[in-house]
Amino acid sequence: MTAPKQASPDSGVLEQTPAMTELVAELRAIVAEELSAADTAARVGDRLRPFLERHDLLRADQREGDEQEYRQHLLHAEEDGSFSVVSLVWLPGQRTPVHDHVSWCVVGVYLGAEVETRYRLVDDGATQFLVPEQTSVNPLHSTCGFAPPGDIHEVHNDSAGKAISIHVYGADIRKLGSSVRRRYDLPVRAS
Ligand SMILES: [Fe+2]
Repeated sequence: MTAPKQASPDSGVLEQTPAMTELVAELRAIVAEELSAADTAARVGDRLRPFLERHDLLRADQREGDEQEYRQHLLHAEEDGSFSVVSLVWLPGQRTPVHDHVSWCVVGVYLGAEVETRYRLVDDGATQFLVPEQTSVNPLHSTCGFAPPGDIHEVHNDSAGKAISIHVYGADIRKLGSSVRRRYDLPVRAS
């Protein structure tokens, strides 16, 4: 799949803002508890929420978009590969492909708002297609979490301004490049 545009692989990892270092320490404590993916995602969402209002969480370069496609900035990759933090920056009109993830994921909206559509994959034996299940607006400072399987979705920015979200994944994004497990270029049907 087309991975989101990335800053240099180590960008942001060695020079975190103090607020990001604080967030990472809290995430590390949650992940160390080795709860289920769903429980981990719920706890991470609770801890992430207040940081979404911290104006000192991201450096200026970690908020930069790209005219060509939405952009990923790696903010932290835990040494043992157990979790990673990225910012994703969407300029107006930019969108992800329909995709799912390799691990649990928590998304917090840091700037603007994002429109998310979740899909169900149907295989009737002859063909595969997608059925839209739910479209929602993830407003500023909201969080949502999910864990595979059943996390097929698409996200876009339909506003006139930039949108930024903070994503925490239970995977090593520095190694993988992105958290995307599979891209679904399939027909979309009502049912
Ligand atoms: Fe996603």
